[in-house]
Amino acid sequence: MADKLIIFDTTLRDGEQSPGASMTREEKLRIARQLEKLKVDVIEAGFAASSNGDFEAVKAIAEAIKDSTVCSLSRANDRDIARAAEALKGAKSMRIHTFIATSPLHMEKKLRMSPDQVFEQARLAVRFARQFTDNVEFSPEDGSRSELDFLCRILEAVITEGATTINIADTVGYAVPEMFGNLIRTLRERVPNSDKAVWSVHCHNDLGMAVANSLAGVMNGARQVECTINGLGERAGNTSLEEVVMAVRTRRDFFGLDLGIDTTQIVPVSRLVSTITGFPVQPNKAVVGANAFAHASGIHQDGVLKNRDTYEIMRAEDVGWAANKIVLGKLSGRNAFKQRLQELGVQLDSEAAVNEAFQRFKDLADRKAEIFDEDIHALVSTQAGDHGAGDHYHLVAMSQRSAIGEKPMASVTLSIDGKESTAEGTGNGPVDATLKAIESQIGSDAEMTLYSVNAISGGTEAQGEVTVRLAKGGRVVNGIGADPDIVVASAKAYLNALNKLGSGIERVKAQGL
Ligand code: KIV
Ligand code: ZN
Repeated sequence: MADKLIIFDTTLRDGEQSPGASMTREEKLRIARQLEKLKVDVIEAGFAASSNGDFEAVKAIAEAIKDSTVCSLSRANDRDIARAAEALKGAKSMRIHTFIATSPLHMEKKLRMSPDQVFEQARLAVRFARQFTDNVEFSPEDGSRSELDFLCRILEAVITEGATTINIADTVGYAVPEMFGNLIRTLRERVPNSDKAVWSVHCHNDLGMAVANSLAGVMNGARQVECTINGLGERAGNTSLEEVVMAVRTRRDFFGLDLGIDTTQIVPVSRLVSTITGFPVQPNKAVVGANAFAHASGIHQDGVLKNRDTYEIMRAEDVGWAANKIVLGKLSGRNAFKQRLQELGVQLDSEAAVNEAFQRFKDLADRKAEIFDEDIHALVSTQAGDHGAGDHYHLVAMSQRSAIGEKPMASVTLSIDGKESTAEGTGNGPVDATLKAIESQIGSDAEMTLYSVNAISGGTEAQGEVTVRLAKGGRVVNGIGADPDIVVASAKAYLNALNKLGSGIERVKAQGL
């Protein structure tokens, strides 16, 4: 029997560290349910000690997920580890993941600790974590820039203390495949008790080599890859789950490894993560990009028509492209809608929330004949943004006028903390005029660093999904809004971002301490 490659998904932890990608507890739960359907082996649900919100999210995911191991990150100290253990205690299968930086640069400049102190802290952290579970992962942060002798010494010690997974982090995306593969092989050869742990790789994509580095690790004995959906993550992101999985599956002849993943769930989860975080997927992205299976050139089309294998190394349906089917329409009833929500892993808090979502679905179905899964995801994602408890701003009404030769103008009525107000604005186009009319009432002074529009399900009849990124006082948030009218979608996205900016959720950062 071939070895199995463990897929450890960290979309909800490392992916969420991407500026503007922070998610609510409900959003994280929805993604976790999809990850469970995808059959990932381990879900890193968050960093429980970083904030109450993250603690609650890890706890909720630990209680809900049955088929994947649920993991929380924790720094190498008792408080973080105890907090992780507390959040995870309802899990059917749990893992504590503790880490500390081991490179000379990080130890001296960031931690201001000597190598001996770091060694001792790592050992004690793993010993403490083992009191709560026998599934403990240890990561030497900035492992790829650490000194080999020190790395061997510390890893031997934490395995002796009971670490069952050793995860070598290329924290700043500095490694190159040959070097990283050699590092994994050398560590496995030199650490005397290396056979007592599963070796894992965790790569960042700063030089565009995260997937290549991870696969080089796998070729040298790593049996766990840490990755995120769509490669989401800080800076240039993390290793893409979909690319690693499809590489190992498509080239099984080369890697010779088994996977537990249900690949038909890849596209649905990719879309869900993109909708929730507001990070669009580039069209030419491998596996999950809209063009990944589109053959435009005549020669390719001719070849594919004669025999698919001429130009297709994977089947679109094997990664879930066929899942984009019409699910409901204008005549669908509440029960059909509720059942589809369940199938999509969406659990709304109350019957009132289901009723509200159903009403929104009916409104949408009046304006759009075919409702796709993506429309439903967008509908419930923006529901939280438009009507979330504690939101200050809600859209009540809006209109705009634009004609060639005239300055576009808009009028927007908002409810601000329950009080209605209306203002007009002019701008370069209807979207600009609308956002100015909103800003004149709210006066956020936030800087807009991104505005993008995507058609959710193709064609001009599709809903437009707008992402707006705002920055203010060191905080960055993404807002999303969906509507068949892209000006309305823009207003919703802008308000969604302003509501998040006003929520003041702060968290302790895992790294950079
Ligand atoms: O990139 C990194 O070093 C990490 C560790 C916490 C594993 O995310
Ligand atoms: Zn990382």
